Order: sequence, then C-alpha cells, then structure tokens
Amino acid sequence: MEIAHITQVGVVGAGTMGAGIAELFAEAGYAVIWYNRSAAGLQRGLARVRSNQQVLIQHNLLTPADAEAALARLHPTHDLEALASVQFVTESVAEDLAVKRAVWATLEPHCRPDAILTTDSSGLPITAIATVIATPARFAGFHFPNPPQLLPVVEIIKGDGTADATCELLLALARRLHKHPILVRKDVPGFVLNRLNNALIREALYLIQAGIATPADVDCAVTNCLGIRWAFTGPCQFMDLVGLDLAHAINTYVFPALSDMHGPSNELRALVAAGKLGAKSGAGFYEYPAGKAQSIIDDRDDKLLKLLQLKAQAAT
Ligand SMILES: NC(=O)c1ccc[n+]([C@@H]2O[C@H](COP(=O)([O-])OP(=O)(O)OC[C@H]3O[C@@H](n4cnc5c(N)ncnc54)[C@H](O)[C@@H]3O)[C@@H](O)[C@H]2O)c1
Repeated sequence: MEIAHITQVGVVGAGTMGAGIAELFAEAGYAVIWYNRSAAGLQRGLARVRSNQQVLIQHNLLTPADAEAALARLHPTHDLEALASVQFVTESVAEDLAVKRAVWATLEPHCRPDAILTTDSSGLPITAIATVIATPARFAGFHFPNPPQLLPVVEIIKGDGTADATCELLLALARRLHKHPILVRKDVPGFVLNRLNNALIREALYLIQAGIATPADVDCAVTNCLGIRWAFTGPCQFMDLVGLDLAHAINTYVFPALSDMHGPSNELRALVAAGKLGAKSGAGFYEYPAGKAQSIIDDRDDKLLKLLQLKAQAAT
C-alpha cells in the first residue's frame, strides 16, 4: 500500500475515540466507512461529531460549509462488508484484549489483503492483539490521545510482526492528518504516552496516599506549573535548560524516594469499590452534579484550542 492510494478509510467503533477519529479523517478529506456494531451507537457518534465541529467553528478553525462537507464524507454502517473497499482501518473498540481479538478475528477477513490495519489501543501490546491477524506485517498501533480531533500527536507502535514499511506509511499518514507522529520502536505496555502519563499518575496517587498533598493540591501543581511548562519544553529539553549537572544531582536524591507502587493506590481501590468511578458516576476524587463534567470538558477544549493556536504561532 502507498500513501497516495489511501482515499477511503474504515473506522471501527463509534464511542469517544471512534467519533473523534472518524471526524478527523473526514475533515482531512478522506471518505470514511464508519462501522459500529449498533446503529444507535453510530447515531450517538454522529451527534458527537456535530458537537465537536461546533467547537472548531466557534474557534474559526472550520467553516460551516467544510463541516457539512466532512459530514457528507462519513458513511455510517453496521455491515462489515462495507469495509471491503477501504485501504486503511483504525479500530477503537473497548480496551479489552479479548474484545479486540474477537473484533479483529471477524474484521480482517472482510478487509482487502493489502489494507493497512491499526488499533487505537491505549497500551495493550500490539503483538498480543495481532495473534488473531493472519498478516501481522500490515498491523500496527496508531494511537490517538483524547480528544483525537484536537491533540496534534499520534503514536505509531511497531508490534513484533509489524513491517517497517507499515510504520513508514503510518508516519506519512499521520503527517497528512497534520499530526506529529511518535514512533514507538518496541511494543511495551502503555507505549510512550501512557507510560509518561501513568508515571506522573502513580506519583500523584502516592503523594495523596502518604498524606503529603491533597488531590486538589496535586492537580493545582500540574495545571498551574508542570502542564503549562511541558506544553513548550519536554522533559529532556527541560533538563538541558536546568543544567544536566543540577538534573543529575536532583535525580540522585529524588529517584530513590519516588513511588514504586505496582498497582492502584489504596484510595483509588476504595473509590472504585464504593462505585465512585469519577465523572460518569457523579463522584470520584471530586463531586460531579449533573452537567458539571461536560462543562469542564467544554472549558478544557476551549482552552486547549487557544493553547494550540499559541503553540502554532510560536512555531512560525
Ligand atoms: N477515551 C480515551 O481517553 C482514549 C484515549 C486514547 C485511546 N483510547 C482507546 O480507544 C479505544 C476506545 O475507547 P473509547 O474511549 O472510545 O471507548 P467507548 O466506550 O467510548 O467506545 C467503545 C466502542 O467500542 C464498541 N464495543 C464495545 N464492546 C464491543 C464489542 N464486544 N464488539 C464490538 N464493538 C464493541 C462500542 O460499541 C463503542 O463503539 C480503547 O482501546 C481505548 O483504550 C481511549
């Protein structure tokens, strides 16, 4: 498969990620065969796309005419046969190895033999999913973080059987979607993004469990310092700017004190056991009365777009 031959893509799944990814490809000009097991799920996905597009329109990043044109390129279906024509497939079904294997075992026989096949798994080993794929050379991770239509990065994960040519093609495809691609050269759980993210989350949970800081103060430290600084200087450049001798000295005394928890903290276990699952259940570390979570997401996306515009200006 060559990048120029990809005109039609298959998106499998219509939840949070499936909708954002279908939107992203449609807005980039691709015809999208959008498969989900239920028609109701596709309807919810389409409503999500329309709502996502309104945010882009409000920020003058999409015109109403281009939004309509993108919607016209979306072809929802719950018939797997419809995927027979696509040159590229991205799957975003539940993050469960058994579910992903079952979906791919059914899906692959419906795909063209030369189609490139990818999963948006957040961190399941690509090689483990690929055990049901007859031709693993064309299968790779293509991991968009959430929200995929806004965040300008995608990880390409090379499974043990993934061909180099598949990774090369995905690097080119990511750039066509105006994303910065990261090539994950070894198939490790969590890849790069979720390893970095969970390293921070583990330490956050440890600080709370040890009574060193409250959840609100941990969040304050990240949203008012680390998150803002890391938007412009990553950890390696940060160390260069600090001075590697100082970074070396701090690493030497802080690393031995950092958490090495091998599972969720006691607080997290207790919250989950109590049915406090976060925004979706109305409570977690914080309380979420009706409408609050959506207003936090809307506010986050609004600020995210402003930050991305600032980053784009800084790069020119
Ligand atoms: N939500 C995130 O923040 C995020 C970020 C990056 C990657 N991902 C990954 O994207 C994938 C989807 O996550 P999501 O947040 O969109 O989930 P979601 O729950 O919003 O959607 C899940 C989708 O999977 C489908 N599905 C579930 N069980 C199925 C089955 N047995 N057979 C066929 N289809 C089934 C559902 O119909 C739905 O379309 C997961 O692999 C997840 O790890 C999620």
